[in-house]
Amino acid sequence: MAKETLTVTDNRTGKTYEIQIDQGAIRATDLRQIRVSEDDVGLLSYDPAFMNTASCKSAITFIDGEKGILRYRGYPIEQLAEQSTFLETAYLVLHGELPTGKQLEEWVYNITHHTMIHENIKKFVDGFHYDAHPMGILVGTVAALSTFYPDAKNILDTANRQKQIYRLIAKMPTLAAFAYRHSLGLPFAYPDNDLSYSGNFLNMLFRMTESKYTPNRVMEKGLDVLFILHADHEQNCSANAMRSVGSSHVDPYSAVAAATAALYGPLHGGANEAVLRMLREIGTKEKVPEFIKKVKTREALLMGFGHRIYKSYDPRAKAIKKLAYEIFEVTGTNPLLDIAIELERIALEDEFFVKRRLYPNVDYYTGMVYEAMGFPVEIYPVLFAIGRTPGWIAQWQEMLLDPEQKIARPRQLYVGSEQRDYVQIEQRR
Ligand code: SDX
Repeated sequence: MAKETLTVTDNRTGKTYEIQIDQGAIRATDLRQIRVSEDDVGLLSYDPAFMNTASCKSAITFIDGEKGILRYRGYPIEQLAEQSTFLETAYLVLHGELPTGKQLEEWVYNITHHTMIHENIKKFVDGFHYDAHPMGILVGTVAALSTFYPDAKNILDTANRQKQIYRLIAKMPTLAAFAYRHSLGLPFAYPDNDLSYSGNFLNMLFRMTESKYTPNRVMEKGLDVLFILHADHEQNCSANAMRSVGSSHVDPYSAVAAATAALYGPLHGGANEAVLRMLREIGTKEKVPEFIKKVKTREALLMGFGHRIYKSYDPRAKAIKKLAYEIFEVTGTNPLLDIAIELERIALEDEFFVKRRLYPNVDYYTGMVYEAMGFPVEIYPVLFAIGRTPGWIAQWQEMLLDPEQKIARPRQLYVGSEQRDYVQIEQRR
């Protein structure tokens, strides 16, 4: 039986070493024994942007990028999108099992009854310019929640953590909706506990003078499915931020603020907004070939395409494309859809994209669905953050409870100046 080990020879010394292989990986710290002298700290692994480095062991999400597979706790997202709800999926992502009827009832009750936020938070939201980007407002206000719940620092207390988890999942939509209403100069619409999680979010966004808001069932279901499809995605940029910042044992609100800031970037969660702007800039189907040329000469990125892990069609993009047609049945089709479909058709045939294995990712069709549902483009990454909050918290909690984890502190390869003496300003040139 072949041994699960690696034998390496250090040609600098002629020494050989046997290194254990576990789950297709070696421990980077096992390289430290490879040294050329007693005072040598030993071999490091160098991996900018973690292209080939596992930072943790996780049981939350499984992705097979070659086959386009995505499962939360073993359940295919296609089945969850069809049969589950976002709050049930959030429970699954966080607890590892689908809830019983009683567990789900208690979970939904607790989240529903934590949707209100402290009235003082309205004062900071009002302090932002009318055109402040809602992601900037969200980063600021979710961090501010840490000052309203100082007990959240007791991160190793299970019951306390659970209370903060209810609050975070419950209040992200409220913060998002208040930011949106502020940008329109509209009064804040308070949560309505009679509505579902997604229905209440629509209520806080769109209720006007009616005493009771009734969400459109297709929109409510569509938004819930979109939240399910965004719930987690293993060690993406924002999950890494959540784990890294959380590893200092800061409270979860501050860690979620860091994750939200990471998601804000156009290469990550900001891509859904960037896709809409790209499609609007292209303007017509006829102009697609001209844009493709710009992508090939590196003047533009094809936003919503490409992925570090998926080297095939992102399964979420498939599910969202299917959902888009259901939403367009109600809202009327989106003229940008023709441009997006033409762009996808060309990209999937063109050698430049095929060679680089670039396919539509989760953000490619999401923006068009959000636009059809009446959301302004700036709020798209905020919708991503709401859906991803259970995933961030699950990653954070798994890190906290993992005995192998400690404060994240990577090493570096120093390429700077050797020691040199201070130069008086008169001698400097
Ligand atoms: C999300 O990680 C996650 O799981 C993230 C996410 C999640 O659920 O959390 O899935 C959500 O962030 C989806 C990705 C959204 N971002 C975008 O759609 C922005 C456009 N995409 C690219 O910026 C890019 O594809 C990334 C950032 C998504 C992935 O970048 P990688 O893995 O670092 O790949 P790369 O930049 O090394 O690209 C390899 C090649 C390069 O060309 P060469 O230098 O080899 O010639 O492909 C090119 C890139 O220039 N390329 C693109 C491209 N994406 C990659 N060229 C044009 N358009 C693109 N979109």
